[in-house]
Amino acid sequence: MTIKQISVAETIPIRHAVLRKNKPIETCYFTGDYLESTFHLGVFLDNNLAGICTLVNNEKVIVQKLYAYQLRGMAILDQFQGNKLGKSLMEFLPEFLKTNKILNIWCNARVSAVDFYQKFGFKAYGEPFEIPYVGPHQLMLKSYE
Ligand SMILES: CC(C)(COP(=O)(O)OP(=O)(O)OC[C@H]1O[C@@H](n2cnc3c(N)ncnc32)[C@H](O)[C@@H]1OP(=O)(O)O)[C@@H](O)C(=O)NCCC(=O)NCCS
Repeated sequence: MTIKQISVAETIPIRHAVLRKNKPIETCYFTGDYLESTFHLGVFLDNNLAGICTLVNNEKVIVQKLYAYQLRGMAILDQFQGNKLGKSLMEFLPEFLKTNKILNIWCNARVSAVDFYQKFGFKAYGEPFEIPYVGPHQLMLKSYE
């Protein structure tokens, strides 16, 4: 298993297969995908891309604390889920964020994945809300300070 930075183009088929099933491919592109400040990470098994996540500079201030980056598009291909690849990506983050001087991050977690993020120290903030065409989400925060 290896984790490395990947291109936007590499993320799209995985986002489509996992997060935007049966939706138009255009829905798989996120704001900021092509910014130089954006990081796309991939987890590989035998040189095959099995999962991804994206970190976008999208600042949010909560209780006077700056959460500079949004974690987005966390997805492991269905056939590889439950094999600790998501965990590997989450455990890769602290050092990667430190290297890039990112202290705090946030995400809009699918309600079905809230417990996953909690395992890695993310805290829910506020009430769940609906993202149209995607489903119920929960704002979650993680500080690496
Ligand atoms: C959620 C997801 C990223 C987790 O990755 P994964 O590789 O399947 O999970 P792992 O095998 O690394 O699991 C690590 C731990 O989290 C738990 N876990 C995994 N998915 C979970 C979920 N949806 N809810 C609660 N716990 C979960 C596992 O049981 C495991 O717990 P353990 O260490 O106590 O045994 C992946 O299943 C996925 O892509 N799901 C569909 C898309 C999705 O919901 N993405 C998140 C969008 S916000």
